[in-house]
Parts: sequence; structure tokens; C-alpha cells
Amino acid sequence: MNTYAKTAVVTGANSGIGLALTQKLLAEGYQVIATARSGQIDSLQNTNLTVIPLDITDAASIEQTVAHIGQLAQRIDLLINNAGIAPDVMSMAAPDRMLFRDTFATNVDGTIFFTEPMLALLNDGAQVVFISSTMGLPSHAGPNGTAYRLSKAAVNMYAAMLAQRVADRHIRVTPMHPGWVQTRMGGSAAPFTPEQAANGIFRGIRANLESGRFWNAENDAVIAY
Ligand SMILES: NC(=O)c1ccc[n+]([C@@H]2O[C@H](COP(=O)([O-])OP(=O)(O)OC[C@H]3O[C@@H](n4cnc5c(N)ncnc54)[C@H](OP(=O)(O)O)[C@@H]3O)[C@@H](O)[C@H]2O)c1
Repeated sequence: MNTYAKTAVVTGANSGIGLALTQKLLAEGYQVIATARSGQIDSLQNTNLTVIPLDITDAASIEQTVAHIGQLAQRIDLLINNAGIAPDVMSMAAPDRMLFRDTFATNVDGTIFFTEPMLALLNDGAQVVFISSTMGLPSHAGPNGTAYRLSKAAVNMYAAMLAQRVADRHIRVTPMHPGWVQTRMGGSAAPFTPEQAANGIFRGIRANLESGRFWNAENDAVIAY
């Protein structure tokens, strides 16, 4: 039986799904280390919350943040890679090189090169969650958002590969689709609130899925990919 409070790290926690996930984890009794580019979450104060700066496109920022997390926590039970951008998600236009560069720097390189040094701070038996998207699954292909879709496809592949690499440490790796969510990214027409998305993601965290499976928080289903 666990007799200690679990510790979670959430990236991009100042806004949208990351903020709602941080609130959900605090409500569930986690100690949360939340990252924000500004180093602040003005709307949230909690004795179990520490907010630290991180820009996942900046190697020096990653190095400082991982060192800081190592000083704050003896062991990390849950890493949620949530930070992301989607500058071309509504665009049907041909791929744009600058948007590709920016999207991959954040969603792919940033996510991967933050996760890699964090592996050493994870407990054996910890969980790594990637807030991905069904938009990155070939079965859900569409004509819009080329850079965004391909970035999430890359994250899904990385998650599947990482699941195998860390299996000997019993670390579970789970890419997740949060649904279409009312955030800065998702817009106001989206059907789900950030709180509903956070609840669905938390059900996925609790679901004890086989490592590497893709969780759809919209309907509590596992999607083959
Ligand atoms: N909303 C949806 O319908 C939907 C659907 C599927 C998947 N998702 C995924 O859910 C995740 C969260 O998105 P959201 O909808 O909550 O959007 P959001 O409100 O725009 O939040 C995105 C978060 O990522 C952070 N971020 C962006 N670039 C960063 C960087 N270089 N370094 C560190 N943090 C960075 C943002 O920080 P700043 O505030 O500093 O910019 C913000 O905290 C994303 O990975 C997204 O792809 C969203």
C-alpha cells in the first residue's frame, strides 16, 4: 500500500487542459510540480503545488527545470506531457515550413527531450502520459492541420517505443486523446470543458491500461493505433 502522497509533474499547466489536470490532481491528493513558461499560475494557490518555469523548446530551460524537479522531489509517480501548440490545426492549406518548424520544436523535440532526462527521476512503476490527439492517428486522418497531425503521430510513435524501452522498470506509457476541448487551442465551440477532459484523462491514468495503449478520454475507450 502507498503511504506517501504521489507526486506528479504537469507541463503547460497555466492554461486549458494542463490547468484543469493540475487542479484535478491536487483534488486527488497529489503533490504537483507544474510547469509554465512564465513560472507562474496566478489563478491557483495550493500548499501541494509548486510552479516552476519551463520552455520545452529551450534546451537550457529543460536542463534547469529537470535539475529543479530533482531537488524538489525524491520520486516522481506521474509525468504528464501536456504542453503543445497547434498553429495550423484549422488550415487546409499546403504545409507551411515555418509552422512545421515551430510545431515540431514544441510538440515533438520539446516533448521528447524533456521526457528523456525525466526518466531518471521516475519511480519504477511510474506512469508517463502524453496529451496527444486522435488527429495523429492514420485512422482519423483529415485534410487540415498537417504539422499538428504529424507532430501528434510522432508523439504516438515515441510513446509506443518508449513503452518498450521502460518496460523493465514497469513504467507505463500512455498517449491520450482529451477530446475536443474548450481551451485557447480548442476554441469555444468545442463540446468538452477542460474539467471534463481532465476527469477523462484521470480515469485513463487510473484504468491500469497495458503500457503503450492509446486512451480516448472522450469515451473511456482504448484505440488501436
Ligand atoms: N483543446 C483541444 O481540443 C485538444 C485536443 C486534442 C489534444 N489537445 C492537446 O492538449 C494539450 C493542451 O492544449 P490546450 O488545449 O490546453 O491548449 P492551451 O490552452 O493553448 O495550452 C497549451 C499549453 O502549452 C503550453 N506551451 C506551449 N508552448 C510551450 C513551450 N514551448 N514550452 C512550454 N509550454 C508550452 C502553453 O503555455 P503558454 O500559456 O505559455 O503559451 C499552455 O500552457 C496540447 O498538447 C494539445 O495538443 C488539445
